[in-house]
Amino acid sequence: MFLLATIIILSYLVGSIPTSIIISKAVKGIDIRNYGSGNAGGTNVMRVLGWKHGVLVIFLDALKGAIAVVLIARLHYGVLPFQNVSPFDDFTLVQIIAGISAVIGHIWTVFAGFRGGKGIATALGMLLMIITVDMLIAVGIFLIVVSVSRYVSLGSIVSALAVPLSMIFRENVLHTHIEGYNTLLPFVIGVSLLVIFTHRKNLVRLLNGTENKLSFSKKK
Ligand code: G3P
Repeated sequence: MFLLATIIILSYLVGSIPTSIIISKAVKGIDIRNYGSGNAGGTNVMRVLGWKHGVLVIFLDALKGAIAVVLIARLHYGVLPFQNVSPFDDFTLVQIIAGISAVIGHIWTVFAGFRGGKGIATALGMLLMIITVDMLIAVGIFLIVVSVSRYVSLGSIVSALAVPLSMIFRENVLHTHIEGYNTLLPFVIGVSLLVIFTHRKNLVRLLNGTENKLSFSKKK
Protein backbone atom coordinates (compact mmCIF):
# COMPACT_ATOMS: atom_id res chain seq x y z
CA MET A 1 0.00 0.00 0.00
CA PHE A 2 2.83 2.39 0.93
CA LEU A 3 4.60 1.48 -2.31
CA LEU A 4 1.45 2.09 -4.35
CA ALA A 5 1.05 5.52 -2.71
CA THR A 6 4.69 6.29 -3.60
CA ILE A 7 4.06 5.25 -7.21
CA ILE A 8 0.95 7.45 -7.40
CA ILE A 9 2.80 10.48 -5.97
CA LEU A 10 5.89 10.01 -8.16
CA SER A 11 3.77 9.55 -11.29
CA TYR A 12 1.69 12.60 -10.39
CA LEU A 13 4.87 14.67 -9.93
CA VAL A 14 6.34 13.54 -13.26
CA GLY A 15 3.00 14.28 -14.96
CA SER A 16 2.98 17.69 -13.29
CA ILE A 17 6.16 18.87 -15.03
CA PRO A 18 4.67 21.77 -17.04
CA THR A 19 6.63 21.27 -20.26
CA SER A 20 4.63 23.73 -22.37
CA ILE A 21 4.96 26.44 -19.72
CA ILE A 22 8.71 25.82 -19.31
CA ILE A 23 9.33 25.81 -23.07
CA SER A 24 7.19 28.89 -23.80
CA LYS A 25 8.98 30.78 -21.00
CA ALA A 26 12.41 29.65 -22.23
CA VAL A 27 11.76 30.37 -25.92
CA LYS A 28 9.71 33.55 -25.78
CA GLY A 29 9.54 34.62 -22.15
CA ILE A 30 5.76 34.10 -22.09
CA ASP A 31 3.29 31.95 -20.18
CA ILE A 32 1.52 29.93 -22.86
CA ARG A 33 -1.67 30.05 -20.78
CA ASN A 34 -2.06 33.73 -21.63
CA TYR A 35 -2.02 33.11 -25.40
CA GLY A 36 -4.01 31.29 -28.06
CA SER A 37 -6.57 28.93 -26.55
CA GLY A 38 -5.00 29.44 -23.10
CA ASN A 39 -4.23 25.73 -22.85
CA ALA A 40 -0.89 24.52 -21.52
CA GLY A 41 -0.46 21.91 -24.23
CA GLY A 42 1.32 21.03 -27.44
CA THR A 43 -1.45 22.21 -29.79
CA ASN A 44 -1.44 25.68 -28.28
CA VAL A 45 2.37 25.82 -28.32
CA MET A 46 2.17 24.90 -32.02
CA ARG A 47 -0.31 27.71 -32.53
CA VAL A 48 1.73 30.32 -30.65
CA LEU A 49 5.38 29.27 -31.05
CA GLY A 50 5.32 27.14 -34.21
CA TRP A 51 5.11 23.44 -35.02
CA LYS A 52 8.62 22.42 -33.91
CA HIS A 53 8.11 23.55 -30.33
CA GLY A 54 4.59 22.10 -30.39
CA VAL A 55 5.85 18.68 -31.47
CA LEU A 56 8.55 18.81 -28.79
CA VAL A 57 5.95 19.55 -26.11
CA ILE A 58 3.66 16.75 -27.34
CA PHE A 59 6.62 14.32 -27.30
CA LEU A 60 7.69 15.34 -23.78
CA ASP A 61 4.11 15.21 -22.47
CA ALA A 62 3.66 11.72 -23.93
CA LEU A 63 7.00 10.72 -22.42
CA LYS A 64 5.75 11.66 -18.93
CA GLY A 65 2.91 9.13 -19.28
CA ALA A 66 5.23 6.45 -20.68
CA ILE A 67 7.73 6.96 -17.85
CA ALA A 68 5.00 6.48 -15.24
CA VAL A 69 3.92 3.18 -16.82
CA VAL A 70 7.25 1.74 -17.91
CA LEU A 71 9.52 2.91 -15.09
CA ILE A 72 7.63 4.14 -12.03
CA ALA A 73 5.00 1.36 -11.95
CA ARG A 74 7.82 -1.19 -11.90
CA LEU A 75 8.97 0.07 -8.51
CA HIS A 76 6.20 -2.14 -7.18
CA TYR A 77 8.03 -5.23 -8.36
CA GLY A 78 11.66 -4.15 -8.50
CA VAL A 79 12.08 -5.32 -12.09
CA LEU A 80 13.71 -3.67 -15.07
CA PRO A 81 11.81 -1.94 -17.90
CA PHE A 82 10.31 -4.38 -20.41
CA GLN A 83 10.98 -7.35 -18.11
CA ASN A 84 7.85 -9.48 -17.61
CA VAL A 85 6.01 -9.03 -14.36
CA SER A 86 3.63 -11.50 -12.78
CA PRO A 87 0.85 -11.74 -11.91
CA PHE A 88 0.11 -9.80 -15.09
CA ASP A 89 -3.33 -8.49 -14.04
CA ASP A 90 -1.92 -6.94 -10.85
CA PHE A 91 0.85 -5.26 -12.78
CA THR A 92 -1.63 -3.95 -15.36
CA LEU A 93 -3.60 -2.41 -12.53
CA VAL A 94 -0.52 -0.71 -11.06
CA GLN A 95 0.49 0.50 -14.53
CA ILE A 96 -2.87 2.07 -15.32
CA ILE A 97 -3.03 3.69 -11.87
CA ALA A 98 0.47 5.15 -12.39
CA GLY A 99 -0.48 6.33 -15.89
CA ILE A 100 -3.69 8.00 -14.73
CA SER A 101 -1.77 9.70 -11.89
CA ALA A 102 0.56 11.21 -14.51
CA VAL A 103 -2.43 12.38 -16.60
CA ILE A 104 -4.00 13.98 -13.50
CA GLY A 105 -0.64 15.65 -12.75
CA HIS A 106 -0.55 17.03 -16.28
CA ILE A 107 -4.07 18.47 -16.00
CA TRP A 108 -3.84 19.72 -12.41
CA THR A 109 -0.14 20.43 -12.08
CA VAL A 110 1.21 21.17 -8.63
CA PHE A 111 4.04 23.18 -10.24
CA ALA A 112 1.83 25.74 -12.02
CA GLY A 113 -1.13 26.59 -9.82
CA PHE A 114 -3.06 23.43 -10.80
CA ARG A 115 -3.70 24.89 -14.29
CA GLY A 116 -2.13 22.47 -16.73
CA GLY A 117 -3.13 20.94 -20.06
CA LYS A 118 -5.92 18.68 -21.29
CA GLY A 119 -4.16 15.38 -20.80
CA ILE A 120 -4.31 14.02 -24.36
CA ALA A 121 -0.57 13.62 -25.01
CA THR A 122 0.14 12.17 -21.55
CA ALA A 123 -2.78 9.75 -21.90
CA LEU A 124 -1.47 8.79 -25.35
CA GLY A 125 2.02 8.11 -23.98
CA MET A 126 0.86 6.00 -21.09
CA LEU A 127 -1.80 4.00 -22.97
CA LEU A 128 0.56 3.33 -25.89
CA MET A 129 2.65 1.34 -23.40
CA ILE A 130 -0.35 -0.68 -22.20
CA ILE A 131 -2.83 -1.08 -25.09
CA THR A 132 -0.61 -0.36 -28.08
CA VAL A 133 -2.93 -1.68 -30.80
CA ASP A 134 -5.97 0.31 -29.64
CA MET A 135 -3.85 3.44 -29.31
CA LEU A 136 -2.45 3.06 -32.83
CA ILE A 137 -6.03 2.75 -34.11
CA ALA A 138 -6.95 5.89 -32.12
CA VAL A 139 -3.94 7.79 -33.50
CA GLY A 140 -5.03 6.82 -37.04
CA ILE A 141 -8.56 8.08 -36.32
CA PHE A 142 -7.13 11.28 -34.80
CA LEU A 143 -5.04 11.97 -37.91
CA ILE A 144 -8.01 11.37 -40.24
CA VAL A 145 -10.37 13.60 -38.20
CA VAL A 146 -7.81 16.41 -37.90
CA SER A 147 -6.79 16.32 -41.56
CA VAL A 148 -10.44 16.40 -42.68
CA SER A 149 -11.81 18.90 -40.13
CA ARG A 150 -8.67 20.88 -39.18
CA TYR A 151 -9.87 20.79 -35.55
CA VAL A 152 -7.31 19.19 -33.21
CA SER A 153 -9.82 19.24 -30.36
CA LEU A 154 -12.36 17.28 -32.43
CA GLY A 155 -9.65 14.74 -33.28
CA SER A 156 -8.79 14.48 -29.57
CA ILE A 157 -12.42 13.96 -28.51
CA VAL A 158 -13.22 11.42 -31.23
CA SER A 159 -10.03 9.44 -30.65
CA ALA A 160 -10.61 9.48 -26.86
CA LEU A 161 -13.99 7.83 -27.53
CA ALA A 162 -12.40 5.44 -30.02
CA VAL A 163 -9.99 3.86 -27.50
CA PRO A 164 -12.50 2.02 -25.27
CA LEU A 165 -14.70 1.28 -28.30
CA SER A 166 -11.73 -0.30 -30.08
CA MET A 167 -11.01 -2.43 -27.00
CA ILE A 168 -14.65 -3.55 -26.71
CA PHE A 169 -14.85 -4.32 -30.42
CA ARG A 170 -11.61 -6.28 -30.57
CA GLU A 171 -12.31 -8.28 -27.42
CA ASN A 172 -16.00 -9.05 -27.98
CA VAL A 173 -16.55 -8.96 -31.73
CA LEU A 174 -13.18 -9.96 -33.17
CA HIS A 175 -12.42 -12.16 -30.11
CA THR A 176 -8.87 -10.87 -29.99
CA HIS A 177 -7.80 -11.46 -26.41
CA ILE A 178 -6.57 -8.22 -24.84
CA GLU A 179 -4.37 -8.97 -21.82
CA GLY A 180 -5.93 -7.52 -18.66
CA TYR A 181 -9.08 -6.44 -20.56
CA ASN A 182 -11.48 -6.60 -17.59
CA THR A 183 -9.06 -4.74 -15.34
CA LEU A 184 -8.23 -2.10 -17.92
CA LEU A 185 -11.55 -1.25 -19.52
CA PRO A 186 -13.15 0.71 -16.62
CA PHE A 187 -9.96 2.78 -16.22
CA VAL A 188 -9.69 3.41 -19.97
CA ILE A 189 -13.32 4.58 -20.02
CA GLY A 190 -12.43 6.85 -17.05
CA VAL A 191 -9.46 8.36 -18.94
CA SER A 192 -11.61 8.84 -22.00
CA LEU A 193 -14.30 10.68 -19.98
CA LEU A 194 -11.63 12.74 -18.21
CA VAL A 195 -10.11 14.07 -21.43
CA ILE A 196 -13.55 14.77 -22.87
CA PHE A 197 -14.26 16.74 -19.68
CA THR A 198 -11.04 18.77 -20.14
CA HIS A 199 -12.22 19.56 -23.68
CA ARG A 200 -15.59 20.94 -22.51
CA LYS A 201 -14.78 24.51 -23.64
CA ASN A 202 -13.59 23.17 -27.00
CA LEU A 203 -16.88 21.28 -27.31
CA VAL A 204 -18.84 24.49 -26.77
CA ARG A 205 -16.67 26.29 -29.35
CA LEU A 206 -17.09 23.42 -31.82
CA LEU A 207 -20.87 23.59 -31.41
CA ASN A 208 -20.82 27.41 -31.77
CA GLY A 209 -18.56 27.22 -34.82
CA THR A 210 -15.91 29.34 -33.05
CA GLU A 211 -13.24 26.68 -32.44
CA ASN A 212 -9.68 27.44 -33.62
CA LYS A 213 -8.58 25.53 -36.69
CA LEU A 214 -5.17 23.86 -36.81
CA SER A 215 -2.49 26.38 -37.59
CA PHE A 216 1.25 25.96 -37.85
CA SER A 217 2.04 29.59 -38.38
CA LYS A 218 3.82 31.70 -35.79
CA LYS A 219 1.74 34.39 -34.14
CA LYS A 220 3.24 37.55 -32.71
O1 G3P B 1 -4.96 18.29 -26.83
C1 G3P B 1 -5.42 19.58 -26.78
C2 G3P B 1 -6.22 19.83 -28.04
O2 G3P B 1 -7.13 18.78 -28.23
C3 G3P B 1 -6.94 21.12 -28.01
O3 G3P B 1 -6.03 22.15 -27.72
O4 G3P B 1 -5.28 24.47 -27.55
O5 G3P B 1 -7.03 23.86 -29.22
O6 G3P B 1 -7.58 23.87 -26.79
P1 G3P B 1 -6.51 23.67 -27.80
